[in-house]
Amino acid sequence: MLGAPGVGKGTQAQRLMAAWGIPQISTGDILRELRKKPESEAGAIGSLAKQLMDAGKLVPDELVNQLVAERLLAADTERGYILDGYPRTLGQATWLDEHLGAVLTKLPVVAVSIEVGYDVLLRRITGRRTCPTCSRIYNVYSQPPIVDGVCDVDGTPLVQRPDDTEPVFEERMRTYHAVTAPVVEHYRGLGRFTEVNGDQAVEEVTHSVASAIRELRKQDL
Ligand code: AP5
Repeated sequence: MLGAPGVGKGTQAQRLMAAWGIPQISTGDILRELRKKPESEAGAIGSLAKQLMDAGKLVPDELVNQLVAERLLAADTERGYILDGYPRTLGQATWLDEHLGAVLTKLPVVAVSIEVGYDVLLRRITGRRTCPTCSRIYNVYSQPPIVDGVCDVDGTPLVQRPDDTEPVFEERMRTYHAVTAPVVEHYRGLGRFTEVNGDQAVEEVTHSVASAIRELRKQDL
């Protein structure tokens, strides 16, 4: 699942996870868990991740690839999985192509890029709130919780991500255009790729993403 910061990758990945019973693997979420751990457990990696994420910069490929390799070993990935926010550099895409070719040949990749304009992204980013317990995503403008500031599922107070400020968003967008846009072109070139309009209601985006994936997977049947 590809797309700019705030485009709706996590929202859609969570909905497909629930509908299809396959896991969402979000490198952003994995890194946020890592940075929460005490330094004695996470080592220097946790504080490096915090420093880079809070500045809107990418975490080094070797570290992220290693985290993904470990996650893909889990039994719940056997029927498939949704990669959310990964790969986002050409180095990561090349590593993934090689890793999947060598290790997991039964599960060919299809890539979906969600597209939304800048102003909508900015509003989504600044309005986003998340549950630190279950990771459910809300938005004060478009998807508010039933009770203000509290998760509908488990009652935990919602938080705003430290990288969801306008200056950090702008840096994340610069990184996206410079480093991640070529990944979109990489998958377009492989032909197992489609773009989806993310500027629709959440349910409509889910329908478009799910239809696109089913269509691309027909090539495998
Ligand atoms: P990451 O957590 O991956 O952030 P991101 O890619 O910038 O994406 P976001 O999580 O901000 O947005 P999203 O597209 O998931 O949108 P969401 O569904 O939440 O990465 C964070 C950082 O970690 C990076 O900057 C980097 O430092 C590091 N990192 C992560 N992966 C890495 C990697 N592979 N390599 C190196 N470094 C890495 O939706 C946003 C808001 O919009 C929500 O409030 C939601 O409710 C709302 N919304 C969603 N869809 C709709 C809709 N259709 N209509 C109205 N509102 C909507």
